[in-house]
Amino acid sequence: MKNQSIHITAAGGSVRPGNFTTKALALVLDELRHREVAVDVIDLAKLDLPLPGKGESQDTNKAQEMVSRATGVILATPEYHGSYSSVIKLLIDNLGFPSVLSGKPVALLGVAAGQIGAIKALEHLRSVCSHVGAIVLPAPVSVAGVQKLFDEQGRCLDEGIEKRIRSVATNLIDYIRTNICPGRNRATWRNRVDAVCFLSPPEINAVMTTKLPKLELKEL
Ligand SMILES: Cc1cc2nc3c(=O)[nH]c(=O)nc-3n(C[C@H](O)[C@H](O)[C@H](O)COP(=O)(O)O)c2cc1C
Repeated sequence: MKNQSIHITAAGGSVRPGNFTTKALALVLDELRHREVAVDVIDLAKLDLPLPGKGESQDTNKAQEMVSRATGVILATPEYHGSYSSVIKLLIDNLGFPSVLSGKPVALLGVAAGQIGAIKALEHLRSVCSHVGAIVLPAPVSVAGVQKLFDEQGRCLDEGIEKRIRSVATNLIDYIRTNICPGRNRATWRNRVDAVCFLSPPEINAVMTTKLPKLELKEL
């Protein structure tokens, strides 16, 4: 059964037929499937998103709803001309002002044909996502030479790189479970501590300056 308390919305920023961004994102989505979370995919090839300043379409609302209900967001972009794709920018520009991305943890994946990977795309995308108030997670994944990485069936030919791509999903879920839905970790906490008590600063001081043989204070 899916854990409906965690909801991930993902978008891929290439609409090129047979593009590699979608192939890389498919690995992330597969990893999410194993994590038992609810997933929405914004298919930018199928949405009719207006250019900035041209009003809002039904698909603008659809994209905003999908991001609004997300606990976390994944943005995958190709490196195009030393930046992220205009398709991803169009999505961000359609997410409102103020943006529904604000306050959302966002994990980034970038793919490029070139050997330096999608570093510039990811840095630019990080900057814009932070600007609109998203919490951009560290460790974005950049994939270089992506056109040599997949076979005809979309299978990844490099185990190590596949693991890194899948880490986009695991990092985001770990962040959410630790910081947003910690209830999922309660069993683990119960195994680690016998008791939790909340003390005011003077009480902490009193405890710290008193010799209590059976009380061991540890920083949690
Ligand atoms: C408009 C355009 C610009 C591109 N610019 C770059 C670039 O600056 N650096 C690079 O490594 N690859 C560049 N590429 C190649 C893409 O990184 C390559 O197509 C890769 O497969 C990711 O894009 P895709 O998801 O559309 O397949 C460019 C491709 C296009 C279509």
